[in-house]
Amino acid sequence: MLQKQAEKNYLCHPKDKRITMKHFNPQVEQMTSFIVMDVLERANELQKQGIDIIHLEVGEPDFDVPSCVAESAKTAYDQHLTHYTHSLGDPVLRQEIAAFYRREYGVIVDPDCIVVTSGSSPSILLALMLLCDTDSEVILSNPGYACYRNFVLAAQANPVLVPLSEEKGFQYDIEAIRKCVNSRTAAIFINSPMNPTGMLLNESFMREIASLGVPVISDEIYHGLVYEGRAHSILEYTDQAFVLNGFSKRFAMTGLRLGYLIAPKSCMRALQKLQQNLFICASSVAQQAGIAALRQAEPDVERMKGIYDERRRYMISRLREIGFEIKVEPQGAFYIFADARKFTTDSYRFAFDVLESAHVGITPGVDFGTGGEGYVRFSYANSLENIKEGLDRISRYLARHDSL
Ligand SMILES: Cc1ncc(COP(=O)(O)O)c(C=O)c1O
Repeated sequence: MLQKQAEKNYLCHPKDKRITMKHFNPQVEQMTSFIVMDVLERANELQKQGIDIIHLEVGEPDFDVPSCVAESAKTAYDQHLTHYTHSLGDPVLRQEIAAFYRREYGVIVDPDCIVVTSGSSPSILLALMLLCDTDSEVILSNPGYACYRNFVLAAQANPVLVPLSEEKGFQYDIEAIRKCVNSRTAAIFINSPMNPTGMLLNESFMREIASLGVPVISDEIYHGLVYEGRAHSILEYTDQAFVLNGFSKRFAMTGLRLGYLIAPKSCMRALQKLQQNLFICASSVAQQAGIAALRQAEPDVERMKGIYDERRRYMISRLREIGFEIKVEPQGAFYIFADARKFTTDSYRFAFDVLESAHVGITPGVDFGTGGEGYVRFSYANSLENIKEGLDRISRYLARHDSL
């Protein structure tokens, strides 16, 4: 009764005209949810009911931010650095990013070719909005980071998927890419080390992709978390490319939302217009924290990397023992993409069943595209103790269950 009265008073005011949503943008209708977030949200609901959940699904560092980052964020508040910054980002931060690319890869980046964004996600949108129109095609790997496809749809363009196979080390096949390139191709995404496989793209591939004559968008967000081999920036091979990077993974700064896009000079005015209108600028406080991270946090990165590597090695051998197949060992990021076909042909059902029955969050491979079906992604961004407990639970669960 009270509810009805409330609706009458507040929701259905007699003067209101009800808006009929005839249809949503068809590109949005085509988008899939980010399934890992669905798993996480369900896991959080179970936790609220008092159930102890082990999180091996989430793609974010379990570490706190480095102390220099926390200190500089506090100082930024104390010094009233809480206003809008230049739309492209604080010039000091852009200089530090350029210096970082010079140190790490020996490449010269003009600070004026950098736009600082709130995490690297808005950078993906800026690059695609700049490059795409409704006819455009964007080449992506399958499997690949779940959100790329949906970003392409948000930019009103069309994803074109190139399969990767574990037999070939989850490497992109340059010939397969070449076959997809046509006059509508607006960009090719690469990501190394890659989410979800943790694999690095090899140098000869980087060289070839840079010479195709199509804009490459290189997502370098997991650089710094490499345990075997070396990650290469696309800028080592061409300056006519787009680099996505950020502070979320390397510096464990996910919640501060800080990232950046490096782009060819000819694109900067257009990117600046987009940034000014869509986002104005990135957080001023996070930008100060980013300066401290680049200047002082490298020892913290090394410490975290050592811990991730120990977990990686433990997880690979334990998963194999349990019966998951891992043909190629991941070299970077904090993920293991394990073949679960011995247990399931439906990774979505499997992941949710493991969550409900064994109380461990894992990400179904299908979140990363049809090419990920039959696989599950395990994140080792959790303590060794929790990883052990989570894998014990999964082992007991598999002993109890027939395949799904
Ligand atoms: C490959 C890849 N790119 C980009 C992002 C976006 O990260 P952020 O917006 O926090 O910088 C993620 C997050 O998981 C990712 O895995």
